[in-house]
Amino acid sequence: MKDKVALVTGSSRGIGRAIAQRLAKEGALVVINYAGNADSAASAVAEIEASGGAAFAVQGDVSSVGEIEKFYSKLDAELTKRTGSDRFDILVNNAGIGVLKGFEDTTEEDFDRVFAVNVKGAFFITQMALPRLRDGGRIINISSGVSRRPSDNFAAYCLTKAAIDNLTLLLVDKLGKRNITVNAIAPGYTATDINAELLKNPEFSEKVSSRTALGRIGRVEDIANVAAFLASEDAGWVTGQYIEASGGLNM
Ligand SMILES: NC(=O)c1ccc[n+]([C@@H]2O[C@H](COP(=O)([O-])OP(=O)(O)OC[C@H]3O[C@@H](n4cnc5c(N)ncnc54)[C@H](OP(=O)(O)O)[C@@H]3O)[C@@H](O)[C@H]2O)c1
Repeated sequence: MKDKVALVTGSSRGIGRAIAQRLAKEGALVVINYAGNADSAASAVAEIEASGGAAFAVQGDVSSVGEIEKFYSKLDAELTKRTGSDRFDILVNNAGIGVLKGFEDTTEEDFDRVFAVNVKGAFFITQMALPRLRDGGRIINISSGVSRRPSDNFAAYCLTKAAIDNLTLLLVDKLGKRNITVNAIAPGYTATDINAELLKNPEFSEKVSSRTALGRIGRVEDIANVAAFLASEDAGWVTGQYIEASGGLNM
């Protein structure tokens, strides 16, 4: 991925950070986007640089169109300074939050917040990416296994991921004309901050592992490996796909 530029939203921590590290290892210049956690973003950049890769961090809250506009104007300036152009090649829509509430307990505020980050964020980040994304590029949307098999542990969240799958399909034909592929990765339970509360319960953790064909909780690298494939030249004939990376959860 030498000479490629990748934007990974929400890459200060968790799955996004692992994807950023992996794309940087493959040679891409990576943009680490984050909402508020500047220290984590700085450490993600430092980690990539320490392994010989290239990255820089740009703050931007994806839940508001005004903030996305500000984010892109900062990104345009930073990319132009570094590469002589504001164009990039790979967009990973990863930024996301969870709401650990069942159907009956979910409030309007919960619902609006999770949709603002997970759905509105991916929609408008992508809309404003299109004039900047090079032909032949890649869009990878981070969905979830719960988009197809919802769980009442986090009711509204499941709906946001179904919307991500729909967004993926919406863009396939439109962007195919520009040779841009659009795919979704659906992780199963993967150990990150988003579900730390759930997974620190040993009973829950064991239940998930026992329902997983490969017998363990997912690691962030498991998801980054799939993202690296979808971002690669080798995946150029793969578009409109939903790839579950869950170790065979609930099969
Ligand atoms: N972990 C799982 O089991 C699992 C399973 C299926 C799908 N997923 C999906 O995978 C993606 C990453 O989740 P994760 O588990 O890695 O979560 P995480 O560890 O909590 O990391 C979330 C990341 O998103 C960023 N973020 C949150 N709100 C944002 C906003 N408004 N604007 C920009 N960035 C924002 C955070 O930035 P700050 O550091 O600045 O807060 C952080 O970098 C999400 O879309 C999630 O739904 C996760």
